[in-house]
Amino acid sequence: MRITCLGAGYVGGPTMAMIAAQCPDIQVTVVDHNASRIAAWNSDRLPVYEPGLDEVVRAARGRNLHFHTDVEHAIRSGDVIFVCVGTPTKTSGVGAGRAADLRYIERAARTIAEVSEGPKIVVEKSTIPVKTAEALLTILRSNSRHGDFQVLSNPEFLAEGTAVADLRDPERILIGGERTPAGEAAMATLADIYARWVPRERILTTNLWSSELSKLVANAFLAQRISSINSISALCEATGADVGEVADAIGRDSRIGPKFLRASVGFGGSCFRKDILNLVYLCEHFGLPEVAEYWERVVRMNDWQKDRFTRMIVSTLFNTVSEKRIAVLGFAFKKDTNDTRDSPAIAVVRGLLEENATVAVYDPKVPAEAIRLEVLGPGGTDARLVVAASAAEAAAGAHALAVLTEWDEFRSLDFAAIHAGMHKPACVFDGRNILPRSELERIGYRVFSIGKPASA
Ligand code: UDX
Repeated sequence: MRITCLGAGYVGGPTMAMIAAQCPDIQVTVVDHNASRIAAWNSDRLPVYEPGLDEVVRAARGRNLHFHTDVEHAIRSGDVIFVCVGTPTKTSGVGAGRAADLRYIERAARTIAEVSEGPKIVVEKSTIPVKTAEALLTILRSNSRHGDFQVLSNPEFLAEGTAVADLRDPERILIGGERTPAGEAAMATLADIYARWVPRERILTTNLWSSELSKLVANAFLAQRISSINSISALCEATGADVGEVADAIGRDSRIGPKFLRASVGFGGSCFRKDILNLVYLCEHFGLPEVAEYWERVVRMNDWQKDRFTRMIVSTLFNTVSEKRIAVLGFAFKKDTNDTRDSPAIAVVRGLLEENATVAVYDPKVPAEAIRLEVLGPGGTDARLVVAASAAEAAAGAHALAVLTEWDEFRSLDFAAIHAGMHKPACVFDGRNILPRSELERIGYRVFSIGKPASA
C-alpha cells in the first residue's frame, strides 16, 4: 500500500506524518509544487510549528515518510491519494469573498486523471463546499484512460497548536463515500488505515454529502459559540456582569457544556470565517436566504467584536491615539502556532494605524516579515508599524498594552518593570482575559478586559 498526498501545508504535512508514524509498513509521500516548502519539510526547521511535530516527522522521515516535488511520479505510484491543497476564498467573479476558489482542487483532479495508470482512491481532505466530490469524480472519470476512481470525503478536524494530539487521538474520523459496493470497499480501505491507531467505534462512514457538509457545520457551530459569548461580553461590560462567571454558570449545564465559551477579541484562523462564508454561499445558491443570513450573522458579530475592541482602546485613551504608542502583544490567531491567517490582530493593528497610532507588535513565533505582510500587504511600508523582539521592548514608551493572543509567556511578564517604562495612566486591554488582573491593578495599571467591568 502506498499513500500519496498532494499539498504539504498545515493539514497535509502533519496528517501524513502521523499516518507514516503509525503505519511503518505503508510508504507515504507528500508532494507540493512549492520547492521551498518541501525543502523545509526535509530540514530541521519544519514549515509548520506544532508542539510534538518534530518528533513525529523525525521518527518516520526517510523510513516511510518522504517529501518531494515530483507530483506526477507520486500520483502514479500511490494507491490512495489524499488531496490537501488550499481552497482559498474567491477574490473576484461570482461568489467573490464567499465562495471557495477550487482551482487547486481542479488542477489536482486533472493531473490525477492524466497520469494515473491504474485504479485510485482519491481522498478529499481540503475543506470544500458540498458537492465538490461530484465535480472531482466527473473530472477524474471523464479525463482518464481507465476511469477506475473512487472519491472519498475525509475532512480533517485538527485544531492548530494541538494538531499532533488531535491526530493521535481524534474524537472521530469521518469518511464519506458512494453507497455502492465499490464505494463501500474504498471506505473500508481508508477506515482500515485509521483503525491501526483509532478505535473502530470512532470511525464513522456516511454518504459523501453528509461528510462534506459536516465539516462546514462543525466549524460554523464552534464559531457560533464564540460569537454568542462575545455578544454577551458587550452586555456584561454594560451591566457589570462578568462574562467569565456567566460562561462558567451556563457551561455547567451539560446540554451547553463548558468548552469554546471563552470571550475574546474575536475568532481567527484559516477555517471559521472561510467555512461559514462557504456555508452562506451554499445556502444562497440553494435558495435559502434566511438560513444564509442566520449564519452570516456569526461572522458579522465577530467583525463587530474586533472593531469594538479597537474602539475601546481609542476611546479610553481620550479619543485619540494619534502619536501614541500601543504595544500589541501577540499576533498569531491563537497561542502555540505561528499562523496569522485571519488573526484578529490584523484588524486591530490596522484600525490603530488608521487612527495614527504607532503600533509596536511582539509575537514569540510570528516572524516580522509575516506581520508586516499581513498588516500592510505585499511591498507596503509604514514607519508607524514597529515589530519588537520582546514584550518589554514593545511596551517601552507605550501608552497601552493590548493582548491579542493568549501566549503563556504573557501571563508572567515583569509587569512592574514594564509599568515603570510606560506613559501614565498605563492601560492594559486584555483581549484574551489571561492577565492577572488584580496584580496589574495593584501596580497601577487601568485594566480593560473583554466582558468585565473596567478598572476604576
Ligand atoms: C478550528 C476547529 O477547532 C478545527 O476543528 C477545524 O479543523 C479547524 O478550525 P483552529 O482554527 O485551528 O481549529 O483553532 P481553534 O482552537 O478552533 O480556534 C479558532 C479561533 O477561535 C481562535 O482565534 C481562538 O482564539 C478563538 N477562540 C476559541 C475563542 O475566541 N474562544 C474560544 O472559546 C475558543
